[in-house]
Amino acid sequence: MGYDRSVSAPEHELGPETVWHLQMPQIRFGRDAVEELGYQLADLGVGGDAHGLLVTDETLVDIGHVGRVRDHLEDAGYDVTVWDGAEREPSIENVDHCIEFVREQEGDAGYDFYLGFGGGSCIDVAKTTRAVIENGGQVLDYIAEPTGEGEALTESGPPLILMPTTAGTGAEISPVAILSVEDQEIKEGISSNHIRADAAVLDPTFTTTLPPEMTAKTAMDALGHAIEGYTTHPFDSLLRASDPGSRPVYAGRTGLTEMFSEKAIDLLSSNVRTAVHNGDDLEARSAMLKGALFGAIAGLTAGASLCHAMAYPVGNRYHTYHGETIAVLTPATTLGYNVASDPERFVAVAEMLGAETDGLGTREAADRARQEYVRLQQDLNVIPSGLNDLAGITEEDIDWLASQTVETQQRLLRCNPRPVTEDDAADIFRDALYNWE
Ligand SMILES: [Fe+2]
Repeated sequence: MGYDRSVSAPEHELGPETVWHLQMPQIRFGRDAVEELGYQLADLGVGGDAHGLLVTDETLVDIGHVGRVRDHLEDAGYDVTVWDGAEREPSIENVDHCIEFVREQEGDAGYDFYLGFGGGSCIDVAKTTRAVIENGGQVLDYIAEPTGEGEALTESGPPLILMPTTAGTGAEISPVAILSVEDQEIKEGISSNHIRADAAVLDPTFTTTLPPEMTAKTAMDALGHAIEGYTTHPFDSLLRASDPGSRPVYAGRTGLTEMFSEKAIDLLSSNVRTAVHNGDDLEARSAMLKGALFGAIAGLTAGASLCHAMAYPVGNRYHTYHGETIAVLTPATTLGYNVASDPERFVAVAEMLGAETDGLGTREAADRARQEYVRLQQDLNVIPSGLNDLAGITEEDIDWLASQTVETQQRLLRCNPRPVTEDDAADIFRDALYNWE
């Protein structure tokens, strides 16, 4: 059980938290924001003759997006090297290759600036590369024990700018990088304010090429951040940090995160159908990118919870995409098991998702959130109908998934508004096998 930071934990010494804090990169958003990259770098103190590394993947080079970014940087007088080896759901080895490349090219000092361009994978490789070049050693030094050495990052390093090309992960503003550990079927996160970018530049013109399936799946991740952030513990029901520096990065919901959640749920749920069915609709794409950003500001500050906790063991074992795993698990977790934590709050979620709740009792209205969400997924027509459809998962796999969730995901379960035992987790996985026929 991971409720060590809860005021109701049996052995706490501190009172409830009274202070909240928001830390964000600079954020630049809008159509053709890429044209302001040079200005952004200069504003971060990078001189005109500086040499930077652009971390991305081959697909984004092939479709010409990387060339467009590079042209803007070169026009502003910057010299740029492209490393396009980022892999989907990147492993520690994948980041090691990038770090090796930097040290071969530029020595231990590395580049003058870093730019991560792409989906969450490219962004996490860029974040981790800058951190390890600046702090020295290798990736494993900064991964939690027992997988790694558990050392803390102490320096941020030269400016890092992140440009997402999907509307989903929120990695461009988050203080976390997620890496998979080959051969172990686990993922590990490096979580530190030193890994956070200095600036996020969000330009929706780069998102129109994302295929319908990936558009839908990344949107479900974004919607998950928004709803999980809206329904996690309030910050002042958690234990006060012993000093300001030790406040956890997922620190509970506040009036500010709730505002962002509300707007994100509205933007994402009312634009995702258009973005999936007509990818060239720049207005819908822009609303999705903004919704994903707002969802991340909310959820990745307040804290993602049970759904994300259960998604990692599934993704690790079956190599499913993060977004589709979140999509499949949300009905049974956030909008199922968690409803009992605060039904009134879920009535609000149901209404934000567009459900009609007039004349219904509180509990019935709260359950409409799940129905409305499932209907949205069915409309998108590219989301698996449950864990079974996602990866052939059956009753036999549930015990392993439940025990992995409870054993390895306390960082996220701590944020869940209802306690979760291993038996509970098994029941919830069972519930998620089939979301619809
Ligand atoms: Fe996520």
